[in-house]
Amino acid sequence: MSSPLYNKLMQYSSSKLSFHMPGHKFGTSADIDKINLSLLDNTEVIGMDNLYDAKGIIKQAMGLMADFYGAKETLFLTNGSTAGILASILAVCKDNDKIIVARNCHHSVWNALALSGAEPIYVSPKYLQEDHILGGITAEDIKEALVTYPDVKGVIIVSPTYEGIVSDIKEIAQVVHAHEKILIVDEAHGAHFIIGDKFPISSIQLGADIVINSMHKTLPALTQSALCHICSDRVDYKKVLSALRMIQTSSPSYIIMGLMDYIRCYILDHKQIIKEEYINYLICTRESLKRLKRLKLIEKPSAKYDISKILISTMHTNIDGYRLAEMLDDQYDIVVEAALSTHIIVITTMADNKDTLSALEDALIAIDCNLEYKNYDNQLDYVINHEITEGRNPRQVYHAEKEWLPINRCEGKIAANAIILYPPGIPVICIGERLKNEYIQLIYELKEKLQGIRLLEASILIEVVKED
Ligand SMILES: Cc1ncc(COP(=O)(O)O)c(C=O)c1O
Repeated sequence: MSSPLYNKLMQYSSSKLSFHMPGHKFGTSADIDKINLSLLDNTEVIGMDNLYDAKGIIKQAMGLMADFYGAKETLFLTNGSTAGILASILAVCKDNDKIIVARNCHHSVWNALALSGAEPIYVSPKYLQEDHILGGITAEDIKEALVTYPDVKGVIIVSPTYEGIVSDIKEIAQVVHAHEKILIVDEAHGAHFIIGDKFPISSIQLGADIVINSMHKTLPALTQSALCHICSDRVDYKKVLSALRMIQTSSPSYIIMGLMDYIRCYILDHKQIIKEEYINYLICTRESLKRLKRLKLIEKPSAKYDISKILISTMHTNIDGYRLAEMLDDQYDIVVEAALSTHIIVITTMADNKDTLSALEDALIAIDCNLEYKNYDNQLDYVINHEITEGRNPRQVYHAEKEWLPINRCEGKIAANAIILYPPGIPVICIGERLKNEYIQLIYELKEKLQGIRLLEASILIEVVKED
């Protein structure tokens, strides 16, 4: 019998050391490998409650989860943070409403705008030139956007970023609430902040109104496990729930929900062990990695940075991030979460311990010994559009007729795709923005590093909205 995917998955899990999602790392944490998951696979029969009208056992489990995270109420998500982002925006915005959106948000935000019919007002994160990554969103920028667009319904930002950078949510929440708006924080990468004080404080405690966590990214939960926390009375729980019923599966996985409940309980019972067996070794590993000579461990002040992400910069070496990831995989069977041209992203979770972290450390130190110094000159701050700009309603773009045009015919047209510079992962142009001459010049200049365009031998093609 030929089952190529199944065979590959089985072979991978027994041969590779995972430093990527999902955070359970093949069941090596919280005894998940000992649980027969098929016993958890159930449905809305008598006694098993109903996620979308929870009155019994699911209500009880979600209540315990809310207490655990310090939220007012928590909803289980069985289609990832994506579902939480869609439901939050649908609950806050309707047709033609405006919402402030950080340009570095996950693409599900634009899908949410297309579904709700809302219009984005864009703000940009800072660019951290030293490490060529994106930084946080500032309260000043949010304030300026709120003053310029006083009719917005709310604000959505991502914190921490994929790279682990945390924005000053307390200050941002104060500004947003002073204008009587709603703050939604995509904290997909921060579900684990709860496990120890070495991690940043969650936006739930810092004044956000809705916070979305992916438990599967940084805790030992199954893929698609996520949470939507309602943290204040400014948000209508019923509206979020009704949006969720619309966009999630009608058969929410009891395996996912049951395991989220189990993991909460496991963390509560094992906090000290998690500290001793994971967090303490993580700190030691980071200390050791500071000794790298050519590669560089990216470090930031702890309140603004999630130390569970190990970012290794290749900027001043003779290899790029892709090559480093390849070397770790080929030579050490270590697979990282992401490789970019200037760095790699390594996800550590409570499934890691002395053995896994030492293996990573040893591999990086061995590779580092053979690298050479190379100067890297990056002056990319000018790429980031620091203007607070209004984007076209993504729903109109979604329904419009589109065409791929040569770049020399695109000035003034509306972009049908985001055009993103990787790294640092920022849209140079978002969906629905007008292609001004300065953006066109930027596309010419950065064409090799952009996603969302087509590069032909003699031309560059851009997808735009067809206009009469
Ligand atoms: C910042 C951010 N938000 C949201 C999501 C969506 O999360 P999920 O995969 O749980 O749907 C992702 C996924 O990678 C993400 O990186």
